[in-house]
Amino acid sequence: MTTRGLVETARILVGAGKGLLAMDESSPTCDRRFSAAGIPQTVDMRRAYREMLVSAPGLGAYISGAILYDETIRQCDRHGISFVERLVEAGIVPGIKVDCGAKALALHDGETVTEGLDGLRDRLEAYAAMGARFAKWRAVIGLGDGRPSRACVLANAQALARYAALCQEAGIVPVVEPEVLMVGDHDLERCCEVTGEVLHAVFEALHVQGVVLAATILKPNMVLPGLACPKQVSVEVVAEATLRCFLETVPAAVAGIAFLSGGQSGALAATRLNAMNAGAGPRPAPWPLVFSFARAIQQPALGIWSGQERNVAAAQAALLHRARCSHAALSGAYLDSMDDDRRVLEAS
Ligand code: 13P
Repeated sequence: MTTRGLVETARILVGAGKGLLAMDESSPTCDRRFSAAGIPQTVDMRRAYREMLVSAPGLGAYISGAILYDETIRQCDRHGISFVERLVEAGIVPGIKVDCGAKALALHDGETVTEGLDGLRDRLEAYAAMGARFAKWRAVIGLGDGRPSRACVLANAQALARYAALCQEAGIVPVVEPEVLMVGDHDLERCCEVTGEVLHAVFEALHVQGVVLAATILKPNMVLPGLACPKQVSVEVVAEATLRCFLETVPAAVAGIAFLSGGQSGALAATRLNAMNAGAGPRPAPWPLVFSFARAIQQPALGIWSGQERNVAAAQAALLHRARCSHAALSGAYLDSMDDDRRVLEAS
């Protein structure tokens, strides 16, 4: 594929007023969530759950692309139609998670580097043949006790850049995800400082590897105080700090920014994204600011579904509601009241 084709795919994904649905939980992660919801942890339950997601009627009105996992990209719905085909029919671009997970970083206790570069060229070629047009790689950066080390930041930035270069060579748009975790008692300023350091390192590495930024999507965390920080801050402060941090570190050429939710509730993630799109920053952002949420879109639907066929329609309604709210946040049109009825419904 030409660079122009890659840029066009990136534009469809993040420049058309819609966001991404991350449904690429690895089987162990999916099983953990199933276990917490009392759902049997089998291949067929995972398949049935993903079928519920991809067949939600009208999902394509809010979602431009869906990120699949290796198991899922090979699966079909009950009629034998592949999930890739179902997505394409719904006007949703299929994507694929290609990293092999965060593994212990040698000589750096408690830190990780994401692996999966070995054989990646061949895997990307195979995924492209299956219909994937974009990919995702997640690096994990934890805070606290002298963390993150320079070694952790640089190793992860280097891996992200090599992954992104291989994607573009294969005609696949890379989603570059360096996630600074919310776990810890650090304050907003510390998150801002570390997120900025990580983004500087990532964009330096992308530059060195020759990655085309106009065909690259950044999937970052929002700048937030740690979950255990005694000093929590308002939605406006989060939105302003996040945009200030990105304006300092993210080149304007990047195709778009698609935020992860990182464990925030769906309503909170939508409220914060909405504030950014409603002009909370020190000046207008040069990139589209969209979402690439997993939990913030799927969580209520998973609980309602509970592994029961009879709950599919209600689960899809909950999924579509979260997709609609996240979508409204792209134009500053999300209102807290959009979630009021739903909270009552879900609690009953
Ligand atoms: P969350 O939105 O649940 O953080 O997941 C996003 C994601 O894709 C993590 O890699």
